[in-house]
Amino acid sequence: MRVFIVGGGGREHALAWGVSRSPRLDKLYAYPGNAGIAECAEIPPLPGDEIGTLVDFARGAAIDLTIVGPEAPLDAGIVDEFSRAGLTIFGPTQAAARLESSKAFAKQLMASVGVPSAQFGVFDDFNAAWNYGTTHRLPLVVKADGLAGGKGALICETPAKLEKALDAMLHTGAFGLAGKTVVIEEFLQGEEVSLFVLADGSGGTCVLASAQDYKRIGEGDTGPNTGGMGAYSPVGVVNDELVEHVMRSVVEPTLKGMAAAGAPFAGMLYAGLMLTQDGPRVIEFNCRFGDPETQAIVPRVADDLLMLIYAAATGHLPVRQVNLTKKKAACVVLASEGYPGRIQTGHEITGIGPDDYVSVVFHSGTKVSEGKTVTDGGRVLGVTGMGATIRAAVHNAYMRAERIHFKGKILRRDIAWRELDRSKGSSG
Ligand code: AMP
Ligand code: GLY
Repeated sequence: MRVFIVGGGGREHALAWGVSRSPRLDKLYAYPGNAGIAECAEIPPLPGDEIGTLVDFARGAAIDLTIVGPEAPLDAGIVDEFSRAGLTIFGPTQAAARLESSKAFAKQLMASVGVPSAQFGVFDDFNAAWNYGTTHRLPLVVKADGLAGGKGALICETPAKLEKALDAMLHTGAFGLAGKTVVIEEFLQGEEVSLFVLADGSGGTCVLASAQDYKRIGEGDTGPNTGGMGAYSPVGVVNDELVEHVMRSVVEPTLKGMAAAGAPFAGMLYAGLMLTQDGPRVIEFNCRFGDPETQAIVPRVADDLLMLIYAAATGHLPVRQVNLTKKKAACVVLASEGYPGRIQTGHEITGIGPDDYVSVVFHSGTKVSEGKTVTDGGRVLGVTGMGATIRAAVHNAYMRAERIHFKGKILRRDIAWRELDRSKGSSG
């Protein structure tokens, strides 16, 4: 099978690495890729990443399956255009991707099918939003309706913060078009976990894995949100019973609701959940693999990842639960100093060394320059450790991370702390 991966981050490297293990793979391409992806896939010299360019490439290279990593091309309609060209592609259509690209759409869909989530209101007028905000209990969460790179949710504990958030979105346009409409929602308390479920667009679903990511830049979950500084999988509290419950109360009604709305969902449904005292409630849906979560999930997959994704893309998912190895995995992100703000790039990376059975390094922002691998983004590498326990996996990730060097390397040293706290005193 000839496969094409769209994207160039750690998630796409993990997908390329996983797909490369399939005996069914004949040839793997990726675009735009990065220095690590280039080790397991060919990066074609395309003039850019416009959808038309990617369609022409896939047609010309006789690609059997295209796998889309990031949300932006999904929102731009890449699946619709590939399908129109008769090409098989994994991911939701533009209409179905609204589950991620419009928070108002997702909230309204959840409300219409009774999926447990936070109470909310949708506004494009400041006064109406302010009125809602001042008649509901703080804290409230103000969210830009559209895609905002993970930075579009503002937690407002005081009226002053609420006013500032609404002003930034609805008046000053600080969030661009994404913030022209806002969702204001109830603040949910609990532990955040994610469940990744493959859907084939015709009712078939297959649970991939649970994971927990560490979004804040600072240890102890402090400082600004990032794309994610680390993740681990599986999450101990997400046991089979909870997975069943989430499938029945969240995933199945959502997929039915999408089909009824004329936008059947195929691809990866990533449910961001808050485990509240009243049970799991949805914080958000994403319509793609998570990054860095995928870097902690793919090394655990025992099935043929390529065939699973192909089955989801063609409406024939065979099983309900992906076979995973017994291994646990934790991914620690090595980022550039200054991230998620201003960073410098172009620093040489040394010490990556070879992968082994306890660790693997996935590249995010890297490129090859004058024969050297150099930094090329905020998140530079994801170092995934594996082991019989999360503790062992974390240990292996940090051992490997210590050996890697580049100027301005930063990392969080407490990835998976919640799980480690939980397992204190037990064997986990
Ligand atoms: P989102 O952009 O919806 O993923 O939100 C980003 C982050 O803000 C989430 O991962 C949560 O940590 C936090 N958050 C979002 N919505 C809520 C909520 N209703 N209650 C508590 N925290 C939230
Ligand atoms: N790690 C969060 C995300 O992929 O959206």
